[in-house]
Amino acid sequence: MCGIVGYIGERRAQPVLLGCLRKLEYRGYDSCGIAVTADGLQVYKDAVRVEALAKSAPQFGGTVGIGHTRWATHGGPSKINAHPHLDCAGRIAVVHNGVITNFRELRRKLAAEGHIFLSETDTEVIPHLIEKYDTGDLEAAVVAALREIEGSYAIVVMKAGEARLVVARKDSPLVIGIGDRENFIASDVPAFLEHTGRVIYLEDGQTGSITRSGIRINSGGREIAPKEDKVLWSANEAQKGGYDHFMLKEIHEQPRVIRNTLAEFTQAEETASGSDLTREIGVSPILMLACGTSYHAALVGKYVLEDLVNIPATVEFASEFNHRKNIFGKPLGIAITQSGETADTLKAMKRVRSQGGRVIAVTNVVGSTASRIANQTIYTRAGPEISVAATKTFIAQLMILYWLAMSNSKADSRRIASLLLELRQLPNRVQQVLDNEGIIAGHAKFLSRYEHAFFIGRGINYPVALEGALKLKEVSYIHAEGYPAGETKHGPFALLGRETPVIAAVSRDDTYEAMMTSMKEIKARSSPVIALSEDGDGAVEELADFVIPVPHVDCIFSPVVNCVALQLLAYYAARERGCPIDFPRNLAKSVTVE
Ligand code: M6R
Repeated sequence: MCGIVGYIGERRAQPVLLGCLRKLEYRGYDSCGIAVTADGLQVYKDAVRVEALAKSAPQFGGTVGIGHTRWATHGGPSKINAHPHLDCAGRIAVVHNGVITNFRELRRKLAAEGHIFLSETDTEVIPHLIEKYDTGDLEAAVVAALREIEGSYAIVVMKAGEARLVVARKDSPLVIGIGDRENFIASDVPAFLEHTGRVIYLEDGQTGSITRSGIRINSGGREIAPKEDKVLWSANEAQKGGYDHFMLKEIHEQPRVIRNTLAEFTQAEETASGSDLTREIGVSPILMLACGTSYHAALVGKYVLEDLVNIPATVEFASEFNHRKNIFGKPLGIAITQSGETADTLKAMKRVRSQGGRVIAVTNVVGSTASRIANQTIYTRAGPEISVAATKTFIAQLMILYWLAMSNSKADSRRIASLLLELRQLPNRVQQVLDNEGIIAGHAKFLSRYEHAFFIGRGINYPVALEGALKLKEVSYIHAEGYPAGETKHGPFALLGRETPVIAAVSRDDTYEAMMTSMKEIKARSSPVIALSEDGDGAVEELADFVIPVPHVDCIFSPVVNCVALQLLAYYAARERGCPIDFPRNLAKSVTVE
């Protein structure tokens, strides 16, 4: 979704801003722009990629500036609708993430007072309101303007002739990067990580005034001492590191991610206090809330928690939960969100909390909004995930869920001991899947010729089918549906035939025979079958047209090896089709609108 950057320092702002915007491209956008203070205010924006903007923009001087990548909500992608937006006099420029819900009413009032609007955006009311209240103190004008605004915002404001940037946030992230005689602002840390890892996360309701050498933060009208944090990610982690795509790099990082996440969690366990909510797993029913890939992780978690902890676990799409009339009882919420900024998930978390419930957030981003709303946060140590398609964060989420279930398990201790041993072996098992990349790429070439596909699984591999289908559709644009294998004959069978391949996740658990039956029924309808199955399973090899071999693991861990194989399948199918793998059309890395 939209990305914000700001710079104030001694360097020419334009190249710094464009560099920061390039780092935010992964968020997904359709237009971009910059404003710098040089001979007044210079603005350049268009409905193009950052690279094109950088090539066509005039060279502006000036050491203060702001920039934005826009993902259209109010008004289509166009030069006029792109940010920054200006006041009437063209002296105040604003970049904004979020949605101003009362913008129509504000726009009507301001227009009646003589303000002229150029765009269709909600954002444009902000510079006009600031202009209305500006009597010389920019921050005071911003505070006055924000009093009239309803909705969510992260904004950076600049004014011609002022060596100052003013920032504010409500329900949309904004972080300040502290440099040496220079400061940065962004909606997302990777934007400026190559320049600094010292940060201040702005809190809801705070405003800030940032100069080259000073940062003042105000909360509720009073200046407060800013809290500095250190970002643990390195700038290198946000580079492709020799891979053709971030997605491929992130898939290959998964053995390390599993190790890091488990290490983090076991250390936390050693120091956990009595008020640790994770110890309450097994006491109250569990309600898991998530969207997209994180929702699929939650579905795997349901099987694992119900099996090992023997507690009911419900999984809801956060977006649907938000429309529920009633919440029954006081379940323990687990909100899963790699970005920590998904609007639907945040809203669902707030809803649970407003009803007196407690929520554990599982997220990859330190300081994210989810971590602020939650009663307790568990971090997946996946490092920055740049590709829009979630891969390593999904596997890290699974690790957290396995650990939560195993450390609160009511299963017999021998089973847990043997699962623990296997858990520690998982990085090696995942590496074995990665070693089969060539075989998977070959099957992906075959799959890439089709326009439709089904993914099927049963039990704990049903969420694997959902995730395999989601991954394939988002990066390769092949229409794919994930189904519980047993359900396919209740309708989807009408679509089977030579033109519809089926990818089957077969695990050697109590679903095995039923999966074999499903595959026979599908083969009888001429659909080509690609089966994921344990190395050396002759029966599956005989039945399927293609086999993706995966190593033997306890079936509870089969989603890990199977999903890694399906990530590679999606990646290579997309590559074969020439798709823009890391930045699929219309998608965004964090979906900050409902
Ligand atoms: O940041 P979140 O985990 O809350 O994001 C949820 C979904 O938007 C996300 O998983 C999306 O489905 C990904 N593109 C999947 O690859």
